[in-house]
Amino acid sequence: MTNYKVAIIGCGPLGVTNFFDQSLPFTYSFVGATIKTGNQLAALVDVNAEALHSAKKTLEKNSSVVPAFTDWRTMFDQINPDIICVAAGPKVNVEVIPEAIGRKVKGIYCEKPLALSLEANDRLAELEKQNQATKIQVNYARNYETFHKATLDFVKNGGIGNLQTIRTTYNGGVLAVFPHTTALLQKLFDGVKSVSGIYSPITNISTADDPNIDGTIKYYFAPQDRDVNVQVLATGRGKEENNTYIYELEFTGSKGRITILENGFRVRYEEMRLSRIFASSGQTHPYETTHLPLELKADHPREFMIDGMYSLINAIETGKDTDCNLRCALAAEEVAHALALAAAQ
Ligand SMILES: NC(=O)c1ccc[n+]([C@@H]2O[C@H](COP(=O)([O-])OP(=O)(O)OC[C@H]3O[C@@H](n4cnc5c(N)ncnc54)[C@H](O)[C@@H]3O)[C@@H](O)[C@H]2O)c1
Repeated sequence: MTNYKVAIIGCGPLGVTNFFDQSLPFTYSFVGATIKTGNQLAALVDVNAEALHSAKKTLEKNSSVVPAFTDWRTMFDQINPDIICVAAGPKVNVEVIPEAIGRKVKGIYCEKPLALSLEANDRLAELEKQNQATKIQVNYARNYETFHKATLDFVKNGGIGNLQTIRTTYNGGVLAVFPHTTALLQKLFDGVKSVSGIYSPITNISTADDPNIDGTIKYYFAPQDRDVNVQVLATGRGKEENNTYIYELEFTGSKGRITILENGFRVRYEEMRLSRIFASSGQTHPYETTHLPLELKADHPREFMIDGMYSLINAIETGKDTDCNLRCALAAEEVAHALALAAAQ
């Protein structure tokens, strides 16, 4: 694997500062993903000179001298990076991605959401049609993380029997956060058939223009030639709700139920057995079991962003797709827009 020159655009938590948060049990910054995969941290960019200076100084204390820029165009001219990591928000994504594709940068590792309007998404989709040279990974991180992938494979292969329902929670807003779920579900399903949404009574103080929506998405599940409803529930990101659980996914089938808890760090597995209470009528109920199927035994560390960097580099080197390419991310965000539009009707 080559030692790629990586430039980080946006030096906030996801770009840089989470790297120094000792309490995090996993890599949660592009700087961390760059260094831990043995690549070269070639540039830091931030329009905020103070944030830039502070990130540079802190990295230098850890013995990395990194060129710093307040303007990403200047950085492109002077550094000519192989890979850019963009953690500066959706407004910057829609400017930087076309520029990087135009310059034939080898890889873009970009934070979600890509954009906040369907028009901006359409422009990116048009651009992608012509894009041959640049591989893009959007950080819908569950798509390349080993445990989540194993869970989807287990469900696809009939591990819980006939898939009946999926329940999901997210902590809002629907555009900024929920596409993590729809990006992942794209790996399981074979198309969206319908979407319905209503406004959640749990309001969201931090993204007033991006509401919380509850709803139902009907997907087609080709392995079993059936439609499956996915229930969507916002848990809020207001003051009071700030400490609620965020991502949970519960897959219920005729033979078992898998629940992904604690944002992907814990799994509960239940087997469908003859009901202790209603056995006489032949009902089955889910009962927790210590016999976790081997496929779900994922005690390896959850390293979402490192797995994403490896997936991007693999795509650059083999010509294959990344695990969450631009089309996948755009389609995931489109479903979130559809939920918001359905609620507004
Ligand atoms: N994948 C995930 O799990 C996850 C989690 C949290 C946040 N995010 C996303 O990551 C992104 C960054 O999050 P954050 O918390 O680090 O944000 P932040 O706002 O704290 O930091 C962003 C940084 O980008 C800089 N910036 C803004 N415009 C710029 C420009 N034109 N050029 C260069 N720098 C610019 C800002 O000055 C700031 O320092 C957001 O889009 C957010 O939605 C993803």
